[in-house]
Amino acid sequence: MDNYTIDKLNQKLKNNESLFKEIHYFSILDSTNSHIKKNLESYDTGDIILADMQTEGRGRQGRRWFSSPGEGLYFSILLKNNWNLKKLNFSTLVIATSIDKALKDLGYISKIKWPNDIYINDRKVAGVLVENIINNFNNTIIGIGININNKCFSSEISKTATSLYLESGSILRERVLYSILTNLHQDIISYTDDFNTEPFVQYIRSNSLYLNKKITITVGNKKIHGILTDILMDGSIVISDRKDNIHIMNYCEIINP
Ligand code: BTN
Repeated sequence: MDNYTIDKLNQKLKNNESLFKEIHYFSILDSTNSHIKKNLESYDTGDIILADMQTEGRGRQGRRWFSSPGEGLYFSILLKNNWNLKKLNFSTLVIATSIDKALKDLGYISKIKWPNDIYINDRKVAGVLVENIINNFNNTIIGIGININNKCFSSEISKTATSLYLESGSILRERVLYSILTNLHQDIISYTDDFNTEPFVQYIRSNSLYLNKKITITVGNKKIHGILTDILMDGSIVISDRKDNIHIMNYCEIINP
């Protein structure tokens, strides 16, 4: 993206009185989330850090986020909002909801893989990494990565990843960014209004990749195989295992169907 495009997007944010203040564009960063953490004093609530490429893009559970130049959207939003751990944890589902809505607005048939991934045609296209500074709940950093114009992926993820290009041809990154920011603006305002999780849980139930399907989850070293039967109002998932035991889980990973 060039400076002209960023200026135009910033103008739109200003005119629409968006929750988001200003997009700060970098051609290269280690990680947009890490950059905010290291430069907290330089940024204000609503600032967005966008990088054309990341050398150390991070995902959940210590995974890497491949961030090749010009091909994806890699950005983080700073919110100085004082969310407690419960609100912070649920916010991942709010952000996943907004990305899913934004992709649907652009015509894609996407699904949410609880809690933070967006899939198209059973392959991952986007991920969310919400973080704060340890023991400091005054700042929330919302990191979003989306594969946009990637034509291929490294062998590590080539069987599980997709891009918007691979699904239906080229699309301008700024169009996707604007659609996401529009949906995020509405959803974050609605979430912070009363922290009512119901509309988000209902949305995720209706747009879930694995609801009522067989899944395997990992909790530490343990694996549980079963059916994902529900998503609860606090954002936890319910798994019914092969012996009909019910597991309610909040911190776990779904590793495969
Ligand atoms: C995941 O899939 O586990 C989450 C991926 C989040 C990647 C984005 S890219 C922008 C921001 N900066 C990072 O280092 N990570 C997030």
